[in-house]
Amino acid sequence: MEKPLALYIHWPFCKAKCPYCDFNSHVRERVDEAAWQQALLAELAYMAEFARGRELGSIFFGGGTPSLMPPETAAALIDAAAQHFAVARDMEITLEANPTSVEAARFDGFREAGVNRVSLGVQALDQESLTFLGRKHNAAEALDAVELAARIFPRYSFDLIYARPGQSTEAWSKELQSALTYADGHLSLYQLTIEENTAFHTAYGRGDFALPDEQKSAELYIVTQELMEAAGLPAYEVSNHARPGQESRHNIAYWRGHDYIGIGPGAHGRLSAERQRVATQTLKSPERWLSSVQEKGHGIEVWQKLTPEESREEKLMMRLRLTDSVPRRELPWASDAALTRLQGEGALRYDAETIRLTLQGRLVLNYVTARLLEG
Ligand SMILES: C[S@@+](CC[C@H](N)C(=O)[O-])C[C@H]1O[C@@H](n2cnc3c(N)ncnc32)[C@H](O)[C@@H]1O
Ligand code: SF4
Repeated sequence: MEKPLALYIHWPFCKAKCPYCDFNSHVRERVDEAAWQQALLAELAYMAEFARGRELGSIFFGGGTPSLMPPETAAALIDAAAQHFAVARDMEITLEANPTSVEAARFDGFREAGVNRVSLGVQALDQESLTFLGRKHNAAEALDAVELAARIFPRYSFDLIYARPGQSTEAWSKELQSALTYADGHLSLYQLTIEENTAFHTAYGRGDFALPDEQKSAELYIVTQELMEAAGLPAYEVSNHARPGQESRHNIAYWRGHDYIGIGPGAHGRLSAERQRVATQTLKSPERWLSSVQEKGHGIEVWQKLTPEESREEKLMMRLRLTDSVPRRELPWASDAALTRLQGEGALRYDAETIRLTLQGRLVLNYVTARLLEG
């Protein structure tokens, strides 16, 4: 049976640009909210034509900071999605939110709009780290926002960034344990990465700060897995942890290689038709995207048919991020020789039916993926 479709909606604006962030996020003094609502609705209608009659399983408002979007815009988009698609009864509707009091004040509006899951960017629980990460909130404010989210939304999650400069295993364990007292069913735990074209890239290049070395990062990763498993929220993906059943269905759709539509500036999409997969991407610049939608009804910049090899490579890379075992029929080209070698290296275990990456294998995911693609 065809898997339900996922819908990603990108809101590209933020109050300030965080020094580590390379997401398509922009600071603007004024946003014409009515024009943005109209444009997002128009692009949704345009894209929906390519997935007519499909069931929609999830919506994800990402960013940028979609909690800065007027709740009425979220409501209008959710209502429109229900017009364009057959909607799954238990559709998951997630909103990414920054945990400031300004945004928390709008949570009721988002709940009324139909949002049933929020993901809050808490990032750290100590003030020094929050300042280093350039965040606008303090820890108390963030935890208040988490508690409020817990009261208003049926499901919530929050993000933390670890492997920060000078962070010891003991300090991180304590911070994570304290975070766990606020967690419910889901936590996203990312190791700090230095992305190109960010303020951190320049500062790190200048030697302003150092990051944990490979061995220290691996140690931090392993302790994270142990603590999360002990707390009943094991990793289901490299950086995502959940109580069984509380996984993000929307993100799982990406990792399982299902189809999704992406609207708003810089959004990606994947659509399958007649045994071929099409990759879409919209214009990244908010202004160019908006004028394009106003002119032609969409901001699509890339509409690329993937070759079977490209599609296979992409699906494998995404699939191996998930921690559950992979049926061997999903990787028919993976040779016994490659599997035996990787098993010998401690990166995976396999039998006649399934392949499963070990914790060691997850630490070198790119290496394992490359070896499996070689066949
Ligand atoms: C689009 S952002 C979240 C949305 C929201 N604007 C916020 O900041 O709370 C998604 C998440 O990716 C993580 N992230 C972004 N850049 C990162 C980096 N360079 N290293 C580690 N994690 C990063 C952060 O935890 C962030 O919350
Ligand atoms: S981390 Fe979030 S708030 Fe900060 S710039 Fe990126 S998207 Fe915006």
